[in-house]
Amino acid sequence: MKKLIIFNWKMNPDSPKEAQKLFDAVMNFKSYILNSEVVIAPPSVYLPQFLEIKNLKLKIGAQNSFWADKGAYTGEISAKMLKNFGVEYVIVGHSERRQWLGETDEVVNKKILTALKAGLKVILCVGEPTQSAGQRGLKRRTTQKGNVWGAKNYVKKQLKKDLKNLSLNSRLIIAYEPIWAIGAGRTDTPENAAEMARFIKKILHSKFYILNSRVLYGGSVNSKNIAGFLKPPEIDGALIGGASLKTGEVKKILETTANL
Ligand code: PGA
Repeated sequence: MKKLIIFNWKMNPDSPKEAQKLFDAVMNFKSYILNSEVVIAPPSVYLPQFLEIKNLKLKIGAQNSFWADKGAYTGEISAKMLKNFGVEYVIVGHSERRQWLGETDEVVNKKILTALKAGLKVILCVGEPTQSAGQRGLKRRTTQKGNVWGAKNYVKKQLKKDLKNLSLNSRLIIAYEPIWAIGAGRTDTPENAAEMARFIKKILHSKFYILNSRVLYGGSVNSKNIAGFLKPPEIDGALIGGASLKTGEVKKILETTANL
């Protein structure tokens, strides 16, 4: 299966001109198309300038959508609007929205159901908050039972709440993003990430009857470490924040992906 690379620009850059420059760095690099699928998720104000490009080889994603179909919700953008506009993917439940905008699992769940109903592919972000839970939990699997399931337990609970009333959906993608690794310059190990990806797939299969779902890793992925995360067959791609804002990094990431 092709690896999925998602560039999440978050609330960057400041101007349409800079956005275009970043976009062109990806557009002009052709060879990745053979073995990967690349998605750019810009702030929504930049969506029109990218979606009107003809023969667009890239996919476009939004960073958020609202849980209601339409109505009196000032400032919000609906999943249907995004879909009708040509957007294919939407990120839901990013930890920054959970932290800064108070998004609860209940809200995340409603957003997922609405976005899937509208026909979007949903990238649900999950991940444990602290490194100790994450690293000890995954590493000392057999020796310290008390800590063993720290990170896994957290993610399992999140999945159960966020995916309530969902089953058999093939348009769902999970991004495992340990919060302590996001924007931190330190990552989980590819081994831990692969083990978590396996675990997530097992839950999706057994609890939600979802087969063949893609699971990505996110959290300080850059051109130097991406090869390690894309190698394990369990990890189907990467969600990349900070590094997606530097054209040099973007080119190297795409080069690495193309040569895997
Ligand atoms: P980062 O962000 O690559 O800057 O750590 C990833 C994300 O938040 O999706």
